[in-house]
Amino acid sequence: MRRLLCLAPLLLAVASGCTETEPPEAVFIALQRDFAGFESWPRYFVGNSPLPGHSVGDRFGYIKQLAPKGAAAYPVGSIIVKTVESGATKQEWALFAMAKRGGGFNAAGAKDWEFFTLRVSTSGVPVIVSRGSNPADGDADGDADGGTTGGGYGSTGSGSTCNRCHGLPGTEQLDYVLSAVLRPGAQ
Ligand code: HEC
Repeated sequence: MRRLLCLAPLLLAVASGCTETEPPEAVFIALQRDFAGFESWPRYFVGNSPLPGHSVGDRFGYIKQLAPKGAAAYPVGSIIVKTVESGATKQEWALFAMAKRGGGFNAAGAKDWEFFTLRVSTSGVPVIVSRGSNPADGDADGDADGGTTGGGYGSTGSGSTCNRCHGLPGTEQLDYVLSAVLRPGAQ
């Protein structure tokens, strides 16, 4: 009994220590290999009517990890790739992606999402061209279209590329996903 009493303050200290240091929120930093094989993920046609800044062609969304049915948001670690599948070869496709990074990333726009522009390499592998909350292009014109073939989005000069549409007021209710068929839990 006496021994237990002596332990009591120690246990209390440990317990209160636990409440002070909450476990850190999960964060997912996508690597290039996380996009590999995206063509085998569930694929959804999202449209082919003209969209500002896009090359002409059929657009598709590929979802790596479906959100649970009826969920309001994708979980951390989810990836959605969008393609404009036009051109003689896959190297000409425009590739965009959003990864649920978490940790409050991109808080001024599509909160918790990180944006990517990619290209299919000559060996058929998706390669990251640019990433972040405001990805820019690797090519000379710096227009964030993910390459030199003219597909993708031009910048308005505001310095905001993807958030310009995906971070619009009201889109937070859709987890910043603009296509109805790709919305969390809609599949
Ligand atoms: C001009 C507005 C606009 C801009 C700017 C824009 N998008 Fe989108 N995005 C859309 C629309 C509209 C859709 C719905 C699908 C479609 O019609 O192509 C979409 C869909 C997507 C999707 C599929 C998930 C979803 O939201 O439906 C991804 C991934 C994506 N965009 C990534 C990007 C990235 C990365 C950038 C910046 C490099 C970007 N987008 C900039 C309008 C935009």
